Amino acid sequence: MTLAKTRSVSLVGVDGFVVDVEAAITSGMPGLHLVGLPDAALNEARDRVRAAIFNSGEDWPNRHVTVSLFPASLPKRGSTFDVAIAIALLAAAEAVPPRACEGLVLIGELGLDGRIRPIPGVLPAVLAAANAGCRTVVVPRANAAEAELVPGVQVICAATLRGLLCLLRDEPPPPEEEPDETATGPMDGLALGNRQDTSGLDLADVRGQAEARRALEISAAGGHHLFFAGPPGCGKTMLAERLQTLLPPLEADSALEVTAIHSVAGTLPPGRPLIVQPPFYAPHHTATRAAMVGGGSGRLLKPGAVSLAHRGILFLDEAPEFTGGTLDALRQPLEEGEVRISRAEGTARFPARFTLVLAANPCPCAAAKQVDCSCAPGIRRRYLSRISGPLLDRIDLKLELSPASRAELRYDLEFAETSDVVAERVLLARERTLKRLVDTPWRSNSEIPGPELRRRFTPGAEAMKAADDALQRGTLSARGLDRVLRVAWTIADLAGHEEPHPDDIGGALMLWSGRRP
Ligand SMILES: Nc1ncnc2c1ncn2[C@@H]1O[C@H](COP(=O)(O)OP(=O)(O)O)[C@@H](O)[C@H]1O
Ligand SMILES: [Mg+2]
Ligand SMILES: [Zn+2]
Repeated sequence: MTLAKTRSVSLVGVDGFVVDVEAAITSGMPGLHLVGLPDAALNEARDRVRAAIFNSGEDWPNRHVTVSLFPASLPKRGSTFDVAIAIALLAAAEAVPPRACEGLVLIGELGLDGRIRPIPGVLPAVLAAANAGCRTVVVPRANAAEAELVPGVQVICAATLRGLLCLLRDEPPPPEEEPDETATGPMDGLALGNRQDTSGLDLADVRGQAEARRALEISAAGGHHLFFAGPPGCGKTMLAERLQTLLPPLEADSALEVTAIHSVAGTLPPGRPLIVQPPFYAPHHTATRAAMVGGGSGRLLKPGAVSLAHRGILFLDEAPEFTGGTLDALRQPLEEGEVRISRAEGTARFPARFTLVLAANPCPCAAAKQVDCSCAPGIRRRYLSRISGPLLDRIDLKLELSPASRAELRYDLEFAETSDVVAERVLLARERTLKRLVDTPWRSNSEIPGPELRRRFTPGAEAMKAADDALQRGTLSARGLDRVLRVAWTIADLAGHEEPHPDDIGGALMLWSGRRP
C-alpha cells in the first residue's frame, strides 16, 4: 500500500479549519473511492478530479484509490478540496515526489480541462492555514493577490494542474503558466493612507442643513446609528452618501476582517485585494431577508448586507418600503455585532458591526410639499411606524429635515465645510475616545456596553440633570439613557471636553428624541 497526504481548508462562514487529505493505493477493483465529503459534493469532486487529471496528460492510476478527508465531522462544502485531492492521489501513485507535497495546503477548484479555478474565501482560508502553523499554501492564480495579504505564509499560485505538477516535480513550467504581467501585487492594496475614490462626493456639495451635517459628524466620530426623515428632495440621500467621506481608513486588522468577508461573498474589487476604506453598502428595498442578514442554501453560505457593511455603513434608503421582516432581522446583528446562520452541518458566523443609516419620506405618495400630499391621515401615520419601535430605539440620532431654503441653496456655498475639514475633527475626536478606552475592547463610544457605561462613564450630577429630568418625566427610558450618554461622550470628544458638559447631554437628548430644537 502506498500513502500520501496533503491538506486543504474547510470554510464555515469566515472561519477556516485545516483538513487532512489522505490518499491510499491498495489492491482491489480499479476506481476512486472518496470518503469524508457529503454525497453530492463527493460525486462532483470525483468527476472533476478524474477529468482534470486525464486532461492534464497524466496517467490515471489503474488501481484502487481511496481518498479520505479528516476530520469527517467538519462541514465540507463546495469545491475547495479538488486540488488537494488530485495532488494527494497523484502522490500516492508516485507521479509526484511525496516530499514535495509534505506540509502543503492546497486550495482550489479544478475545471474539467485541468484549469485551477478561483474560489470565494481564499483570504480567510489562507489566514486559517497560517493560524494552524502551515507555512506554504497553493492557491489559484486568480486569487494570488488576496492570499499574499496574509503575513508569514509562502504563497504558490498555479493556473493549471499541469503547471502545479511541473512545479512540484521541479520541471520548467508549461508555456501557459508563464508569469502574468498584469497580475497585481499585494502592495497595491496596502496604501492605507489613501482615500478610496468615493466618486467625488463631498460634504460641501450639501448647502444649509447644518443640523444634518452635524449629525453626520457625530455619527462618524462615535459610530452612532442615524435616521433622516423629511420630504422628498430635501437631501436625505445626498447627506447619507457623504457619511463615508468623513470616516477614517480602516485599521490593519479591520481591513483584513472586512476583506475576508468580501472574499467569501465574491465582491472583492478586482486588482485591489485589500479593502482599506470602510464599506458603504446600500441594498435596495426589495432585498430579501437572506440578502439582508446572509444565508442561502447553495454550496456556500453568503454573507448578507449587514456583513458586507461590516466596519462601515449600511444605508437603507426609503426605509419604510423594506418589508417588515427584513428590517426586524436587523435587530439581532445590531445587538450582537455578528450574524450566525445555522444549517444541519453546523453554524456559520459572519461579523456584522456597522453604522445603520435610515432615510424615509413622511408618507408613501412622496409629495414634495405637504399641501400636495394625497394620503389619508391614517396612511400617513402608519407609514413611518413601519419602522418598528424596537428598531428606532436602537438609533441614537434622529432628525426631521426640511428642505434647504432658496437663500441657503443659493448663498451657502462658501460657508459649507468640505469633507476633509470635518474628517479631521472626526479623527481627533476618535483619538480622544481611543485614549479613554485604551484598556478596553471597544474602539468607539457606540460600542461601550450599558453596564460599563453606567459604571465607568457617568458624567457629574450637574451635567446629568437634563437626562434625569427626562427619566423622571418618563420621556426617556433606561435604554434610551444609555444611548444619550454614548452620544454625549461623542459630542464631548468632538468639542475636546474632558467629560460631557450639560450642553453636550442636552444636544444628545435632542438628537435621540428626534424633536426639533
Ligand atoms: N441642501 C441641499 N444642497 C444641495 N443640493 C440639494 C440639497 N437638497 C437637495 N438638493 C438637490 O436635490 C436633489 C435630491 O436630493 P436627495 O438627496 O435625493 O433628496 P431625498 O433623498 O431627500 O429625496 C439632490 O440631488 C440635489 O441636487
Ligand atoms: Mg432619497
Ligand atoms: Zn402623501
